[in-house]
Amino acid sequence: MTQLIKTPEQIEKMRIAGRLAAEVLEMIGEYVKPGISTGALDQICHDYIVQHQNAIPACLGYRGFPKSICTSINHVVCHGIPSNDKILKKGDIINIDVTVIKDGFHGDTSKMFFVGKPSIQAERLVRITQECLYKAIEIVKPGIHAGDLGHAIQVHAEKHRFSVVRDYCGHGIGDVFHEEPQILHFGTPGTGVEIQEGMCFTIEPMINVGDYHTKLLPDQWTVITKDRSLSAQWEHTLAVTATGCEVLTRRKEEML
Ligand code: MF3
Ligand code: CO
Ligand code: CO
Repeated sequence: MTQLIKTPEQIEKMRIAGRLAAEVLEMIGEYVKPGISTGALDQICHDYIVQHQNAIPACLGYRGFPKSICTSINHVVCHGIPSNDKILKKGDIINIDVTVIKDGFHGDTSKMFFVGKPSIQAERLVRITQECLYKAIEIVKPGIHAGDLGHAIQVHAEKHRFSVVRDYCGHGIGDVFHEEPQILHFGTPGTGVEIQEGMCFTIEPMINVGDYHTKLLPDQWTVITKDRSLSAQWEHTLAVTATGCEVLTRRKEEML
């Protein structure tokens, strides 16, 4: 079994990996414009991670995934595969999900980008989904339960008439990409794993305008909303401290 409580030395490595993952998202923003392909975005991120960061793109080859990042546009919930044939157009919303490995440890983070000007509905979805992530992060501390996080996310999403995807969840992370504990983005307070100092995990809510059901495309990776409604996701990797948490993948633009 993997060790769920990290030592200070391991958390220092997580901090470095987390910062690198965040820096990839900071770097790629200026390229996310109408006319660029998701294949080109993937190539830019791949080269930045490998050549500039001397790190490893964790997604590349992970369970057979063919690219270095996930690019999930509009009704794609997660795990969209970058392609030179997929060209961004005005009004699209896109999630870019980056995981890097540095010195054996993983940093995993994603954010939403607007391509040109979004619809009012898309802007609301993206903003509320980010608020869902932040509301969960705010309550992380030793002694709470994973279900408390899911509950906070679900209440906020449903207050705005959105739905929480059930089929994918946040996860423990360290020298292993996906490990215990599971962090569901819906649920009941007081249920699930008790959060302890030294745990590292992601929170990565996927929120839909329509209902929460998903469908896996024949490529066996791309997950879409069953009703083709818009979906958004934001993700951070964090480490639990004595009094709260440290967001290991925080970007400069964030006030966390
Ligand atoms: N980064 C995703 C996550 O948040 C996992 C992507 S797996 C891949 O857990 F193989 F699709 F890249
Ligand atoms: Co993740
Ligand atoms: Co991710």
